[in-house]
Amino acid sequence: MPEVNRQIVLASRPVGMPKESDFRLVVSPIPKPASGEVLVRAQFLSVDPYMRARINGRSGYARPVQVGEVMVGSAAGEVVESNDPRLSVGDPIEGDLGWQEYAVAPAKTLRKLDPAVAPISSSLYVLGMPGLTAYFGLLDICRPQPGETVLVSAAAGAVGSLVGQIAKIKRCRAVGIAGTNEKVRFITRDLGFDGGFNYKETPDYVARLKEFCPNGIDVYFDNVGGAITDAAIQLINNRARIAVCGQISQYNQAEPEMGPRWLGQLIIKQAKVEGFLVHQFADRYEEGYRQLGAWTREKRIKYREDVIEGLENAPKAFISILEGRNIGKQLVKLA
Ligand SMILES: NC(=O)c1ccc[n+]([C@@H]2O[C@H](COP(=O)([O-])OP(=O)(O)OC[C@H]3O[C@@H](n4cnc5c(N)ncnc54)[C@H](OP(=O)(O)O)[C@@H]3O)[C@@H](O)[C@H]2O)c1
Repeated sequence: MPEVNRQIVLASRPVGMPKESDFRLVVSPIPKPASGEVLVRAQFLSVDPYMRARINGRSGYARPVQVGEVMVGSAAGEVVESNDPRLSVGDPIEGDLGWQEYAVAPAKTLRKLDPAVAPISSSLYVLGMPGLTAYFGLLDICRPQPGETVLVSAAAGAVGSLVGQIAKIKRCRAVGIAGTNEKVRFITRDLGFDGGFNYKETPDYVARLKEFCPNGIDVYFDNVGGAITDAAIQLINNRARIAVCGQISQYNQAEPEMGPRWLGQLIIKQAKVEGFLVHQFADRYEEGYRQLGAWTREKRIKYREDVIEGLENAPKAFISILEGRNIGKQLVKLA
């Protein structure tokens, strides 16, 4: 075991798009677990859009990361020292460990993984938070019915790629919006979406949506907000359901972007818009893991990891998702 821990801390609060210099690598002693705690060596870190909100200094749904603090985030790894009977040395786990190579955590806060079921990296994706977000967000908030059209934005990313596939399992028409032609090929050819388009090459979103959603939109799973969402709302059907999962197009804006006022459309269409946080389904996570695991084993859900190596590259990986360079789930693999 090395003698030191390496960690990525927040160096300064980003203004607009974060820069690598907003983060700093520091070296510190490897912590010792107290009673009830374990020491974990991380093997994969997750970088996620919510982290942008955690570093902007404004209080939202969770405490902001302070300048100088280790960046927050989930990681998968193995227990290397245990002071709790629930976990033994060598056990693979997933938990909120932050951007660091070694972390101490109370054993009761960690999820023990079974590598025979799936590689441990999937605990940060299809069998982890993004998978649960897609599963509960689509099925509970939107309640898609066979034959309906489900539209999802950021469709080639971690959550979006799963939303479209679950929509297909539920016998819906799945349409995705993504930011490159390669992503559109990925969702249509590899994942089985019925259609999709590259919004960065589309001057008129409404016209393109009409082409791919000829019967209108029954369910819109919104990952991005902004102009894409403004266009989608114009095409919703009676009794449409819109799940507001994310608003990534707004995360780097200092002030909210002004847009057209479409709420009247919700009256005319008697539609429902509901925001959600995956954590509100915490008491049903086991159900989500079970079903997502079964669909993955049956190959009804496919997933793709986009892996960058090295703790020092975690800031680059994080910026990569805000810039739309990832396909599937962005992960950082540690040595
Ligand atoms: N409510 C919850 O509990 C919950 C939980 C997890 C995630 N989320 C939200 O779900 C969304 C997707 O998260 P994820 O982890 O699956 O990330 P992801 O989709 O893997 O990565 C983010 C993607 O967003 C797209 N994007 C970036 N900037 C954009 C912009 N200005 N306009 C439109 N699209 C943009 C990019 O794809 P393109 O190339 O297509 O632009 C990028 O690849 C995020 O908004 C996130 O905050 C919410």
